[in-house]
Amino acid sequence: MEDLFKKLTSHCKEYGFIYPSSEIYDGLSAVYDYAPNGVELKNNIKTYWWKSMVQMHQNIVGLDAAIFMHPKTWKASGHVDAFNDPLVDNKDSKKRYRADQLIEDYLDKLEAKISKEVEKARAKFGASFDETLYRATNPRVVENKTKQDQIQKRLTDAMTSGDMAELKKIIEDCEIVDPDTGSRNWTEVRQFNLMFNTQLGNIAGEEGKLYLRPETAQGIFVNFLNVQKTTRQKIPFGIAQIGKAFRNEIVARQFIFRMREFEQMEMQFFVKPGEEMQWYEYWKEKRMNWHLALGTPASKYKFHNHENLAHYANAAVDIQFDFPFGFKELEGIHSRTDFDLKSHQELSGKKLQYFDTEANENFIPYVVETSIGCDRMFLAMLSNAYCEEEVPDAEGEASQRVVLKLHPAIAPIKCAVLPLLKNKPELVDKARTIFDELKFSFLCQYDDKDAIGRRYRRQDAIGTPYCVTIDFDTLSDETVTIRDRDTLKQERIPISAIEQIISEKIAWKNLF
Ligand code: GAP
Repeated sequence: MEDLFKKLTSHCKEYGFIYPSSEIYDGLSAVYDYAPNGVELKNNIKTYWWKSMVQMHQNIVGLDAAIFMHPKTWKASGHVDAFNDPLVDNKDSKKRYRADQLIEDYLDKLEAKISKEVEKARAKFGASFDETLYRATNPRVVENKTKQDQIQKRLTDAMTSGDMAELKKIIEDCEIVDPDTGSRNWTEVRQFNLMFNTQLGNIAGEEGKLYLRPETAQGIFVNFLNVQKTTRQKIPFGIAQIGKAFRNEIVARQFIFRMREFEQMEMQFFVKPGEEMQWYEYWKEKRMNWHLALGTPASKYKFHNHENLAHYANAAVDIQFDFPFGFKELEGIHSRTDFDLKSHQELSGKKLQYFDTEANENFIPYVVETSIGCDRMFLAMLSNAYCEEEVPDAEGEASQRVVLKLHPAIAPIKCAVLPLLKNKPELVDKARTIFDELKFSFLCQYDDKDAIGRRYRRQDAIGTPYCVTIDFDTLSDETVTIRDRDTLKQERIPISAIEQIISEKIAWKNLF
């Protein structure tokens, strides 16, 4: 899996999906640029999300709030006081870690030990193996499980109460070492606020302190009443937004999984107090179906309930994806109560209430939020799509291919137009005419360099679902060869049918 991750990162660079930011200056840690194919894939992911949220729901509307917000926003939201990660430095290696992650890695190791023990026993006892009994009675498994439960409880309690000394104590008790150097020479654990800040040009000091938003959600909360009034929405209704967010992550070593500048797709759904759990369940299911509609196997996803609730939530679940480095959070669904609207109302002194005409009463709505990182979705789609395979009936270099089996609706390029030979002007002219016709319907790429097999490989590597080849028969009978990326089947079809065949395959409505 580690190997796959390495291959993915180099594939992203080589085939124009992602570049390290400011690479000529050796890059900037945890910041990346989306390259020509990457920006298409990312835009398609955003379009899919936006259409399924806004276009498919009469009671969800869009918003594009500014990144900078009044600094009081972040006081009210709790981010100034509570958006912290516990940081610990190793005095020998000078490396910085998240204390909670070091402990979680230790817990993962205990889990791996238990699983190894169980698998060994399964292989030994075969069909008669009773896993439940074995887990309950094997001394080594029981010992590790007990240790795991105790540490997990201490970690949850320390994180909930913000007890940094206890985190340090857990690190010492578990004899956790610096993963790179093996050193145990740790500093104290301290809170580190993840918000980046900057300064307004015309106001000095604390008054002029601005934050780069760490989540897009607050732009929605502060506009809640504006949107409700101007769109005349009735509860329940939602506001959707896609935009950049910024977090000064302590550990950011997993490519685009954990970045300092990233993009979120968030939707706040405003409901009557007391009805939030029913909507929470509704959005859990809806969001999982959104993922599955792309054809990704269900086994790649799982729900993971939060034990450690954020300061604003009364229930929270992650949709985890099986990334090349294991199951990790891809999306969060949170029941945020009336925490945000209430605190903004208190701090701003402006009413943020909804008037229910039927009940003739005012109330502050409760909120169910769906929040997915666009970059993580990008990584999930790429890692699921990446495939190395043999090409039947091909020889030499052409017998192997790397193919991105992306859903056609999100593939960056929909169709490659390829004249069989570059030095035959009649083929090149015809291919150009076909390209100029198709470009009005979807993104195409014209390519006449190298042998046709090589051009197919290039398109496979960026996930193009169809290649159309123009040969000498095309000139006499107005037909082309269309090649399917996944089945490798080649068919002869009239030029007039290309647009319809491809449009049907890439249509968004296939996903809804
Ligand atoms: N408004 C709620 C919120 O921001 P979150 O769980 O902190 O919740 C939501 O973030 C999603 O944003 C995550 O599920 C993840 O996909 C994405 N995300 C968070 N931090 C990220 C980072 N540093 N880099 C990339 N994506 C990130």
